[in-house]
Amino acid sequence: MTDSILNIELLEKSFGGNKAVDEASFAIERGKITGLIGPNGAGKTTCFNCIAGNIVPDNGSITFNGDDITELPPHKIFKLGISRTFQIPQELTMLTVQENLMLASKNQLGERFYNNWFLGKRIGEQESNLQSRAIEVLSTVGLADKALDLAGTLSGGQRKLLELGRALMEEPELVLLDEPNAGVNPKLANQLVAKIKELNKTLKITFLIIGHDIDVVSNLSDRLVFMSAGKVLLEGSPDEVLNSSIVQDAYLGSQYRE
Ligand SMILES: Nc1ncnc2c1ncn2[C@@H]1O[C@H](COP(=O)(O)OP(=O)(O)OP(=O)(O)O)[C@@H](O)[C@H]1O
Ligand SMILES: [Mg+2]
Repeated sequence: MTDSILNIELLEKSFGGNKAVDEASFAIERGKITGLIGPNGAGKTTCFNCIAGNIVPDNGSITFNGDDITELPPHKIFKLGISRTFQIPQELTMLTVQENLMLASKNQLGERFYNNWFLGKRIGEQESNLQSRAIEVLSTVGLADKALDLAGTLSGGQRKLLELGRALMEEPELVLLDEPNAGVNPKLANQLVAKIKELNKTLKITFLIIGHDIDVVSNLSDRLVFMSAGKVLLEGSPDEVLNSSIVQDAYLGSQYRE
């Protein structure tokens, strides 16, 4: 029997008359890397937004470790152990790389003024814990030498590494990566793929990854879920999915035919 960490059942989300996600069901296996693929507008990012709580679906359910999280707000979902990156990086350009990571933490007592007033010492300790965690994560994603640079000075690829770092700050169980390789040069892209594999292996983090480059995603993933026009049409091993005529006809064109 497979052990799923996340279950999506008959998920639906429309924007106006457009069914972005249309009765989509799939499961994500614990400890595995799952690739979510499909043409532009298939509904992949909308699924991510529903899982992470950024959008409330119209119908259907999402369970994480057996708990229903369908209607929870993003910060509660984050606290349960799901973190995400965005298709368009969300870093604060006028803060340093390290500060961006520290801000991604969920334990920021300092953001409340009365905490500042009563808990000055604790906040000091917490800041320094956060700072050491940020430095640790920066070396994990290969940005240690950029810690004190303004995030706005990073290259496109480095911003993607920063996004990954932000998602790792709180030692999540499940990480959702939306197009982690988009706009990243091949050398950095390989580095990113190696990092994801390593994090999956050593820290047992489960990943759900949206990607356009079918070769990269299938090479990285243990399983693939294929969406088209809001529907999940297929899930299985990369071989099963890529060799199916549904995927070849809908998406890949003739290049993958024997
Ligand atoms: N906030 C929104 N308001 C209105 N329509 C939206 C919104 N978000 C997504 N859509 C529409 O929903 C459909 C699915 O979009 P979504 O971004 O989920 O696709 P995707 O699979 O991530 O595509 P891509 O590969 O281009 O990123 C599209 O038709 C899109 O135009
Ligand atoms: Mg998208």
